[in-house]
Amino acid sequence: MMDIVILGAGGHGRVVLDIIQQARTHRAIGFLDNNPALHGRRVDGLPVLGGIDQLDEVRQRGVRGAVIAIGDNGVRRALGDRVEAGELELVSAIHPSAQLASNASAGKGVVIAAGALVCAHCQIGDYAILNTGCIVDHESMIGTSVHICPGVRLAGHVVVESGAFVGIGATVVQNVRIGFEAIVGAGAVVTQDVDPMTTVVGVPARAIKDAPTAAEFASMLAPTQRPIGLGDPRDPMHVAQA
Ligand SMILES: CC(C)(COP(=O)(O)OP(=O)(O)OC[C@H]1O[C@@H](n2cnc3c(N)ncnc32)[C@H](O)[C@@H]1OP(=O)(O)O)[C@@H](O)C(=O)NCCC(=O)NCCS
Repeated sequence: MMDIVILGAGGHGRVVLDIIQQARTHRAIGFLDNNPALHGRRVDGLPVLGGIDQLDEVRQRGVRGAVIAIGDNGVRRALGDRVEAGELELVSAIHPSAQLASNASAGKGVVIAAGALVCAHCQIGDYAILNTGCIVDHESMIGTSVHICPGVRLAGHVVVESGAFVGIGATVVQNVRIGFEAIVGAGAVVTQDVDPMTTVVGVPARAIKDAPTAAEFASMLAPTQRPIGLGDPRDPMHVAQA
């Protein structure tokens, strides 16, 4: 059984540890997390070995893979690149009670939690999270680094573009497209396409935040262009764990 580390020791990290332990396909030997307050401590019995900058060290100690357990969609994708650059295998965590249709496909580094249902001909992109008890119905496409929260119901032929977040308990009717990095609020019922980078809430869902202007968009890009510093408070991992 391959030894792996879990990147992120927060609430989602605990969920992912449980999935790995129940699936018994890999052996989790510890967490890496950029919150220094956790270093040297144990989370659900597993040690927090250090920050994400320890990837190379754990590889030298025989770890061969990593599973990413970070809720932030942008950080998760960036970390995936970093894991692969570090020559570790990007591992998926799929709970034994999740059900995937035989003709559904899933990319690398995905997390599919307990009770999730993925129906016929669905495609699940890299780094996607399909959280507890969600339903992804037939021929739906889930983009890279999407988060489908617990209890979400997607009808058939739904497209969720990369980086989008569908909040807990939301329902999306058939043939709807959720634009990239859009946010669907908890409990929303989405009956129409959602523009990229827009936030919608309610029943039926309505926009409460429109997509940014070109100037706003440019300023949003800047942080992701900064190098990920080790222990640097500007590090997106650091912010995510604070
Ligand atoms: C949609 C969401 C992201 C908006 O967060 P936000 O941008 O901080 O928005 P605010 O909290 O300032 O709310 C703005 C307005 O929308 C309303 N609103 C926010 N979320 C709503 C929701 N889910 N349903 C209905 N109305 C909502 C607020 O009441 C507020 O209304 P007001 O202006 O009349 O007072 C957030 O409320 C949400 O639903 N997050 C999902 C959480 C989740 O699913 N967590 C699971 C993680 S596994």
